[in-house]
Amino acid sequence: MAASTWILIFVAVHLTLAAHASHSCKRKLPCGPSKFEFYMHNTVYNPAVDNRNYFNSIYGLPPNVSFPNPIGFGVMNTFEDPLTRGSSNTSAPLGKAQGFYVIDTFNEYTLFHIFTANITEGDLKGTIDIFGQMREVDPVRYLTVVGGTGAFLGARGLASSTRVQIDRTPPAKWTLYFDLDLYY
Ligand SMILES: *[C@@H]1O[C@H](CO)[C@@H](O)[C@H](O)[C@H]1NC(C)=O
Ligand SMILES: *[C@@H]1O[C@H](CO)[C@@H](O)[C@H](O)[C@H]1NC(C)=O
Ligand SMILES: *[C@@H]1O[C@H](CO)[C@@H](O)[C@H](O)[C@H]1NC(C)=O
Repeated sequence: MAASTWILIFVAVHLTLAAHASHSCKRKLPCGPSKFEFYMHNTVYNPAVDNRNYFNSIYGLPPNVSFPNPIGFGVMNTFEDPLTRGSSNTSAPLGKAQGFYVIDTFNEYTLFHIFTANITEGDLKGTIDIFGQMREVDPVRYLTVVGGTGAFLGARGLASSTRVQIDRTPPAKWTLYFDLDLYY
C-alpha cells in the first residue's frame, strides 16, 4: 500500500477512537429538584447543666495554648441535628444533618461547616453534602452544595442559610434555615 493510504487509515482509526472517548463522557444524570429547604435544630451539650438527655452537638477540647483564645480558635463541634420541614422543632421531620464545624478565625465567630443532610422522609429521599463558611455577623451565610445521592444525585449549587432563632441560656439552642438552589 502507498504511504498515503497508511496515513488515511491512521487518521481514520484516530478519529474513531477520539469520537468513542468523547461519547463515553456524555452520561447525563436525571434532574433532581431545583429547590429544597429545611430547618436544622441544634442543642449544644453543656457540662455545666449536664443536658446529656437532650443534646445534638458536642464541642471538642480547646487547643492547649498558653495565651488567651477567647473565641476558641481551632475548636471543633460535631453535630447530629434533626431537620424539619417547618421552623418549629416539632414540625414534620425530614431527616438529620450529620457533620461538624471548626471555629476558624481567632477574633470573631466564623464556623467552617461540612455536613451531610440525610433526607429520609417525604417524596425526595437521599443525601445532600453542604460545605462552607458561616460568619456569625452575616445575616445570610452562603455555603455550597458539593454533591448528593438518591433523589439529589450529582446535585451542586447554593445553600443560603439564615439563623431563625437562638437561645443562649445554657444549654445553647438555635435553629438555622437552609434554602437550596440545586443544579444537576
Ligand atoms: C498543655 O501543654 C502544657 C505545656 O506543654 C503541658 O504541660 C500540659 O500537660 C498540657 N495539657 C494538656 C491537657 O495536654
Ligand atoms: C423545642 O423548642 C422549644 C421552644 O424553644 C423548647 O422549649 C423545647 O425544649 C425544644 N424541644 C426540643 C426537642 O429541642
Ligand atoms: C440516612 O439515614 C437512613 C435511615 O437511618 C440510613 O439507612 C442511611 O444509611 C443514612 N445515610 C447516610 C449517608 O448516612
